[in-house]
Amino acid sequence: MPDKSIAIVGATGAVGRAMLSILTERDFPVGELRLMASARSAGQKIETVWGEVEVEDLSIADPSGIDIALFSAGGGRSREYAPAFADVGAVVIDNSSAFRMDDRVPLVVAGINDHAAATNEGIIANPNCTTMTMLMGVAPLHRAAGLKRMVASSYQAVSGSGKTGVDELSRQTRLLQADEAALNDGTWVDPGGDVYARPIAFNVLPLIGTADPHGYTDEELKLLNETRKILEAPAIEAESTCVRVPVVTGHGTSVALWFERPVAPEEAVRLINEAPGVQVWLDKVPTPLDAAGTDDVLVGRIRPTLDGTGGLNIWTVGDNLRKGAALNAVQIAELLI
Ligand code: A2P
Repeated sequence: MPDKSIAIVGATGAVGRAMLSILTERDFPVGELRLMASARSAGQKIETVWGEVEVEDLSIADPSGIDIALFSAGGGRSREYAPAFADVGAVVIDNSSAFRMDDRVPLVVAGINDHAAATNEGIIANPNCTTMTMLMGVAPLHRAAGLKRMVASSYQAVSGSGKTGVDELSRQTRLLQADEAALNDGTWVDPGGDVYARPIAFNVLPLIGTADPHGYTDEELKLLNETRKILEAPAIEAESTCVRVPVVTGHGTSVALWFERPVAPEEAVRLINEAPGVQVWLDKVPTPLDAAGTDDVLVGRIRPTLDGTGGLNIWTVGDNLRKGAALNAVQIAELLI
């Protein structure tokens, strides 16, 4: 198999950098590596196992000759540049939400619906990080018992908002820690921020994205729509509330599930443990700190629903930068070669 020409678009960002380290870790057959970002980063040199690579300005980069382009520079850039990359023969694996619900674009979670990647017309979408990490635990149960309905609440890390989200949490944490009065009586002075509308340090923000007229945010609707598309099950009903928490890396989800038939917790443990890329923890509750830096999604707290109908409550947690983004993108690239 000849080595491939690979581009990372958004190479200087949180996900882009994770893509580079995952390509390295997995010994991906890279012949030529091209790194692209905004004009601000152009000229910056990045040391890689394939040699030193100079960051190119995406707006003037020539995509000819690229076999696979991993995009993670925001939806606007994907909409503007991904079609041009595909037109000259690259397969774009896009981490943004720009094309996810496009009927011509497969939405692939490696290990769940690998077959869909083959139907691409030049663009493959990488699902939303919360949907993807949650489905690693849910899909094995769906395959066995047919998911009918779920109610999910997410606990999403700030690195899901990119490097600037992590910087905002760390800056606000330092400011609030130095504020004796705030620590004593909880009267927080809003430290201000560019990424989140309200303080994220020592707080939780139960609204991610923009709410529609019914009060649901785009992030919450992604969980419903992407789940249906990935599982090829348009009748699944899903309720969701997405919450940002002051965690650096690792998206958690608490999810209640009801199936076509009752599923006992012991069966769920077996089904999940038989699936690739996911493992059940029985002795210890898996937390974001356990998931950060690991490839597998972790599942715990598997309990029967209290309504006696044979549903399940489960907790899933996965590294949002790895399985939730960069790792899955690289795994899709591996499916292509
Ligand atoms: P840059 O570092 O030059 O701004 P994150 O999500 O961690 O904030 O990263 C976003 C990524 O998208 C970065 O690599 C960033 O590059 C890139 N990016 C942002 N705006 C543009 C743009 N207009 N053109 C190309 N890349 C962009």
